[in-house]
Amino acid sequence: MTKLINKRSWAEPYKMKMVELLKMTTRAQRVKAIKEAGYNTFLLRSKDVYIDLLTDSGTNAMSDRQWSALMLGDEAYAGSESYFKLEKAIQQFYGYKYIIPTHQGRGAENILSQVLIRKGQIVPGNMYFTTTRLHQELAGGKFEDIIIDEAHDSTSEFPFKGNVDLAKLELLIKKHGAEKIPYVSIATNVNMAGGQPISIKNLKELRAFTKKHGIRIIHDMTRVAENAFFIQQREKGYQQKSVREIVYEICSLTDGATMSAKKDALVNIGGFMATNEWDVFEEARNLVVVYEGLHTYGGLAGRDMEAIAVGIEESLSTHHQRARIGQVEYLGKKMESYGVPIVKPIGGHGVFVDAKAFLPHLSQDQFPAQALAAELFIDSGVRTMERGIVSAGRKPDGKNYYPELELVRFTIPRRVYTQAHMDVIAESAASVFEKRKTIKGLKMVYEPKYLRFFHARFEKLM
Ligand code: F0G
Repeated sequence: MTKLINKRSWAEPYKMKMVELLKMTTRAQRVKAIKEAGYNTFLLRSKDVYIDLLTDSGTNAMSDRQWSALMLGDEAYAGSESYFKLEKAIQQFYGYKYIIPTHQGRGAENILSQVLIRKGQIVPGNMYFTTTRLHQELAGGKFEDIIIDEAHDSTSEFPFKGNVDLAKLELLIKKHGAEKIPYVSIATNVNMAGGQPISIKNLKELRAFTKKHGIRIIHDMTRVAENAFFIQQREKGYQQKSVREIVYEICSLTDGATMSAKKDALVNIGGFMATNEWDVFEEARNLVVVYEGLHTYGGLAGRDMEAIAVGIEESLSTHHQRARIGQVEYLGKKMESYGVPIVKPIGGHGVFVDAKAFLPHLSQDQFPAQALAAELFIDSGVRTMERGIVSAGRKPDGKNYYPELELVRFTIPRRVYTQAHMDVIAESAASVFEKRKTIKGLKMVYEPKYLRFFHARFEKLM
């Protein structure tokens, strides 16, 4: 008999009160649907999807407390009480002084980039994110990747693959001068690296280094609580600290932030920009009325701000994070047990399959991750997302970026799917893996100018 003393699994700290029915489809229906979608999972209709792992963005299940908070929304155009609740939650739990709500993360990125970046400046960061880098470029800046080399290696088991390589930053300062660097852009739980955390130790070193050079740290805190959970699990000296305390400490090491509340903060829409500098706030508050709405709603309904304020607090529960990340880990381990090549360590918001290792017979110009995502959908109706050469897009000079990581992301929405869903997903990945040699590449037949992965269309190579 197996001994169970002191062994407990990560079962969810909630139960279901309402369910959403899913449509089951046939293989023939899915073949037709993905062809009509130009082999781009973004262009599928969600009614054709069984388990939707496209993204963890805006796909969270809200709690009963959040739903009831919606009824308290103050929909005043100016001075909404809901704004003050959101401001209070951000100040209390994250510690930033001034806040500006925006309709989602990229709204905050747009405003922050316009306020801080001047033409010809350099913005170093721990790996790029699609919308973040584009806004930096549109504001006249140039992104430079300063993440540690391990982050680009899908097989490295380094526990903090989100860390910054300070030597890379030092080189940039030597080459361009500190005055050319408006800020260092730091994401907590680096999305494109596979949901990998940065350590407090690294962040503290970065803080000391940037202080010396008078450079700000701007924090993309979209998945900060997930990063904090990894710190609690992996970093020396943090085992006894709560997720809430660690999140506060992370934020205290930075000067401002952009946030897509659609992830960590457990809502379906919303975001904000935060800063500790009055001058930055003043300019951003002025710009937000141009792009988003008055500074006390920033494109959100009052009820959205209520739901975010409650969601922030719920996201800081260690029990919530244990179940959230436990579920992702469960899926990753199951996929691994079937031999499917995945990015290690298993990330916070999803399992990332290494499409180069999965389909070694395809060159990166044949879009292996895009082709694999289409094949998975045909197999089971599970919708995943390409995170490789298509997502990486083109450089300002028009040449393709060729990212080291060519991944298919199985992103897990928070509080939405069950363990049995995870089993079905892993089984589907395993059966596609068994017939991997028969999978053909794609050619791109339509390419939009910005963020091409959203609308690009493909055809199957014969
Ligand atoms: N930063 C990170 C790290 C993100 O993952 C996202 C969105 C954003 C900023 C932009 O926020 O979507 O609210 O405008 N990531 C989503 C994803 C889209 O699927 O990874 P947004």
